[in-house]
Amino acid sequence: MACAGRSRPGHAAILGAVTTKTYFIRTFGCQMNEHDSERAAGVLQTMGYRPADTIDTADLVLFNTCAIRENADNKLYGQLSQLKPLKLSDPSKTVVVGGCLAQKDQEGLAEQAPWVDVVYGTHNMGRLPELLSQADSAELPVVEILEHTEMFPSALPARRDVVHHAWVSISIGCDNTCTFCIVPALRGPEKSRKLGDIVSEVRSLVADGVTEVSLLGQNVNSYGRDLVRAGLSDATGRRNRTMFAELLYALGEVDGLERLRFTSPHPKDFTSDVFAAMRDVPAVCEQLHLPLQSGSDRVLKAMQRSYRARRYLDLVTEARETIPGVAISTDIIVGFPGETEEDFAQTLAVTETAAFDSAFTFEYSKRPGTAAADMPDQVDPAVVSERYQRLATLTRALSRHANERQVGTVQQLLLEGPSKTDPTRLSGRTRTNRLVHVPDVGGFEPGQLVTARLTDAASHYLLGEVTDAEVSDPVGAPAPARVA
Ligand code: SAH
Ligand code: SF4
Ligand code: F3S
Repeated sequence: MACAGRSRPGHAAILGAVTTKTYFIRTFGCQMNEHDSERAAGVLQTMGYRPADTIDTADLVLFNTCAIRENADNKLYGQLSQLKPLKLSDPSKTVVVGGCLAQKDQEGLAEQAPWVDVVYGTHNMGRLPELLSQADSAELPVVEILEHTEMFPSALPARRDVVHHAWVSISIGCDNTCTFCIVPALRGPEKSRKLGDIVSEVRSLVADGVTEVSLLGQNVNSYGRDLVRAGLSDATGRRNRTMFAELLYALGEVDGLERLRFTSPHPKDFTSDVFAAMRDVPAVCEQLHLPLQSGSDRVLKAMQRSYRARRYLDLVTEARETIPGVAISTDIIVGFPGETEEDFAQTLAVTETAAFDSAFTFEYSKRPGTAAADMPDQVDPAVVSERYQRLATLTRALSRHANERQVGTVQQLLLEGPSKTDPTRLSGRTRTNRLVHVPDVGGFEPGQLVTARLTDAASHYLLGEVTDAEVSDPVGAPAPARVA
């Protein structure tokens, strides 16, 4: 179907000139996508676009999409149909869909929403100006999906909303074959950035006022293996250290970087040198996100997650012993094909033993094209939902318990801004990434580091008050006992 009156702002002209148009980006999915949206915003701003306050008033609306679970797909299609009347009543509005779901559905997306102007994938955000320009004269949506990344997205300009925090990608793609996961099909094989390029980016971010950096990769602790294989590694450090540990030590040398975090490591690739770096590099925060996925060895095997529950718990023990006060969070999937009540009981048992500080729990979602989608014994949705509730009850109780353990301690907080629910309070994060609200007594700036005494705990946040008392010794959950 051709779309009526595709009269748009004349992007061909914008390629070389400045526009007064505005944009609004809605991001779905993970931190990687949040970061990609900063790049998309950077590209649009280079074209002269300015941010709009609302989706309704924006001249250009960009959906940066996710396809990890079916509800991510549904959300996007729901929002697109909400936007349709607006677009049809104002054809000069430009609608762009990019990212993972666009990569997955390609032409199918343009067929379902033929009034969309541009569809691009996970490998070609840098082509946005050309695609917008092509859309000016096109009758049908301009769809460009590439199979491989030509340019590291980090080479594109970024527009960050927050002054003190920045995401930094250390690798893109994933070489793993987790049978439930669609990411490798959408983001391609793992490609690492050069260590020197990452360090330079962090240095320039810090020079720009950033004090906290979160390193991003689908599997951060296999960082650099591809570079070593290709003889392209620029790590100058010691033998026997993984490239990821090297990177943490190298970034620890950047003056002015107060906090360094990373997500996600894979348990199969976790090595002791990374725990040592977390202990030795003062900027690396006492926080570890370590996806478990399942506590059952049978299910882990079917998921092709090549560690077992015992190995996972040994990593938790090592983390808790090496890094005092470390907070450990995880991802868990409930209802993977073939999961029995006994398998699920093992997930509950490992969760309890690991005493997670927080957990992201998901109902298994069948992703066509993944190996698990064709497995027999898909679990009845009612059973999945009932197990999900039981796991959520446990993880909520563990989070509350972990937070209660912090009450009475004095900790460093990085202030983020006014609390979203109570304007008389400011919200900040501890080094362990716990959300803390303190009374706003005036004179504080987002990004400022203060010390706070923690006074009350709930499952997802703590309350506290700013103090000039000394920071306390860290308190964490006890390490699970080692089994010989
Ligand atoms: N690379 C990261 C994960 C990215 S996806 C890692 O390995 O840690 C984030 C989380 O989504 C995964 O850890 C997993 O728990 C969940 N997830 C991925 N595919 C899923 C699916 N098909 N159904 C339900 N949850 C899924
Ligand atoms: Fe998906 Fe597994 Fe890769 Fe994570 S490690 S992105 S879960 S395939
Ligand atoms: Fe992230 Fe979703 Fe893509 S979780 S990598 S945006 S499929």
